[in-house]
Amino acid sequence: MFKVTIIGAGNVGTTAGQYLHMRGIADLVFIDINEEMAKGKALDLSQTASISSGSAGLLGTSSYGESADSDIVVITAGIARKPNMSRDDLLSINAGIVSQAAKEAIKYSPNAIFIVVTNPLDIMTDLVQKTTQLDSKRVLGMAGVLDSARLEAFIAAHLQISPADVRAMVLGGHGDLMVPLKRHSSVKGIPVTELIEAEALHKIMERTRNGGAEIVSLLKSGSAYYAPGASVAQMVEAILLDEQRLLPCCVKASGQYGLQDIYIGLPAIVGRNGVEKIVELALNEEESRALAASAQSIADNIALLESLRQPKPQAPSETDNKEETAAEADSQKSS
Ligand code: LAC
Repeated sequence: MFKVTIIGAGNVGTTAGQYLHMRGIADLVFIDINEEMAKGKALDLSQTASISSGSAGLLGTSSYGESADSDIVVITAGIARKPNMSRDDLLSINAGIVSQAAKEAIKYSPNAIFIVVTNPLDIMTDLVQKTTQLDSKRVLGMAGVLDSARLEAFIAAHLQISPADVRAMVLGGHGDLMVPLKRHSSVKGIPVTELIEAEALHKIMERTRNGGAEIVSLLKSGSAYYAPGASVAQMVEAILLDEQRLLPCCVKASGQYGLQDIYIGLPAIVGRNGVEKIVELALNEEESRALAASAQSIADNIALLESLRQPKPQAPSETDNKEETAAEADSQKSS
């Protein structure tokens, strides 16, 4: 049986766990600084077994030792921006939480593949690769699957057709500068540009870019978790079952798309080795410019994080933020 550890037993982490448990493909360990909550969620989920026939093992804990020899480690722990907190504060606080989680997890699972979910996604994925020193093929971030799924849902709703026939691709960072690709979105192979008129399509692309924020503003407290959780589960499954799926993921470019050594959303073949291959599409000028702008913003934020972490090396760790559990944090993550 495969073993998957999910760090942060909040809404995104446990929703991913729920999908995976129902598929019965891996024993699951939920890790959270709030141990009782992790235990409670694991116990609750385990009690669905006779109904949903999920048969794999479930454990909630705060001890990283229990995660030993995981095939995959998913990091969802982190906090949301609160009133009076700057983006810089959020960046350095989540960097403290995520790097600590990665450092602990890699000790016990040196052969794991890491999937990063905490925001700001592209920066945190880069940080996990630097912290674990794993080959970049073994560290990837979840965003493109989610952003593409949102685009697919909006296209299907607009055309009033089954989402099963819609395929779409969103590249770039998981933020305002993400790059939804009109030309590579289709209904059973028919380009959406032939099915949806330009203005409506433009609105759909805009709505996709703001997909996370739209849900945050409806929920009032907390951010999306059903689609993010399902997206994580799809990536986990593609890796464990060596599916060789083409999924847009946050991966480290090494020359592809003219991008060097930067984590950003690109189409990748995902299988048992993690990122098997980054697939290069011929982008037009507008798409290339948008991708380059997104990459620049990620690079700027990585530089910002490095400067924020340098003067005061004691970046806040999970224990410094005890009043807020990783899980609460996860459920309140900014989009
Ligand atoms: C979103 C968060 C999970 O896009 O990043 O909803």
